[in-house]
Parts: sequence; C-alpha cells; structure tokens
Amino acid sequence: MDARQMKIKAAEAALAHVEHGMRLGIGTGSTAEEFVRLLAEKVAEGLDVQGVPTSERTARLCLDLGVPLKSLDELPELDLTIDGADEVDGRLQLIKGGGGALLREKIVAAASSRMIVIADETKVVETLGAFPLPIEVNPFGLVATRIAIDKLAERLGLTGEIRLRGSADDTFTTDGGHHILDASFGRIPDAEALASQLNSVPGVVEHGLFINLASFAIIAGENGARTLKA
Ligand code: 5RP
Repeated sequence: MDARQMKIKAAEAALAHVEHGMRLGIGTGSTAEEFVRLLAEKVAEGLDVQGVPTSERTARLCLDLGVPLKSLDELPELDLTIDGADEVDGRLQLIKGGGGALLREKIVAAASSRMIVIADETKVVETLGAFPLPIEVNPFGLVATRIAIDKLAERLGLTGEIRLRGSADDTFTTDGGHHILDASFGRIPDAEALASQLNSVPGVVEHGLFINLASFAIIAGENGARTLKA
C-alpha cells in the first residue's frame, strides 16, 4: 500500500462515523482532502451533511466537489470534526499545522462534540516533537515574540531552532493574515506545559499542540486501519 492508499484507508474508516444530518468540521491537508473526496461521493448519492471548512484550501475543494458548506458563525456547534495530524502520541496529543491551518483547525475542533484524527502509521510517535511545532504569530513584533518563545522554551528545558516559515522575501501567511514560526525542539516531554505557556506569550495567536481535543484516531498501515484511543 502506498502513502496515498493509506490516507484513503483512514479517510474511508472515518466516513463510517458520518451520519445523515451531521454538522461536520472538515480538516486541512492531504489526508483530510481524501476524506473530502469520499464525502463528496456520498453527498452526490444523497447524504445530507453541512460542512465547516478549516481553511480556504479545503473550502475550495469542497465547493469544487459539491460538499455543502456553512461558516462557523452559521453553525457554531458541530457534531464531528475529521482532520489529519503531523504527529499523534499515545495520549492523543497532536502536533498540527504543517499545512498552516492550525488556528481555524483548533477553533473548529473545539466547537465540535467529537474530533476524529485520520493519519497513517508514520504519524504515530512515542513523544511529540520530531515534527517542528508550528506556532502562529502576529506579524507585529515578530522578533520580540520569537525571543519570548525562545526564553520560555529554555525555562522548560527545550532547545532547538525556531525558524520563520517561508523565505525572507516570501514569508508564509495564514488564512488569518499571520505568520508561522516552526520550532524544532526534537522532543517535547511535557506537551501540556508547553501548550499552556505558549498561550500566555503576547503575539502568539495559536500553536499546533492539540491537547484533549481528539476523541480517537484512525491510523492506517500496511494491514488496514486501526483505532487509537487514549
Ligand atoms: C494542516 C494540518 C494537517 O492536518 C497536517 O499537516 C497533516 O497533513 P497531511 O494529511 O497532508 O499529512 O495540520 O494545518
């Protein structure tokens, strides 16, 4: 099974949890896009759902494929969100934001009764941190914000490089008009502590640590899909 087939396997298994009439949060990234493609087939066959996209990119794909969309303001309480992840640990703590959509992804996940993570085995880790942690920051005072993050990381015993996503003349900008700092800590032994400390840094809009948001994960591997519960 190649990487794309695994993503499709995980997306298929997640689709089995979608019921008629549901208000759905729809994630961002290549795995979430496989889910959108499968969902669109069911919608064409008559499945009645309403989706809230977590990015402009996902919104475009949904519109192209005929998945009905609403804004989160129109549907502020969702039944289920299905989204990918960059890393998942055994406690269902996640790193997300590789695709730059972490802010909307977190708002949508928090507005949902349940969140199902879809991923392949390569995303499952013992300890979060090998994937650089995306931190969404306001462009104003970027350097000061980076220094503040550096200092708090040092206090928590974390070391590693923090890089601005994109290039000097083409900085990556999120759907919300912010930038992303990717923090390569290597290992984050206490993700909960880092998450709460990052939330207190002025200039940090949101970060990619998703704690206590995922209900379970569907992990696809060579032998099919398995469920990962905390
Ligand atoms: C986007 C995300 C994605 O869910 C994450 O990057 C995983 O993407 P993919 O399914 O392409 O590996 O958090 O912000």
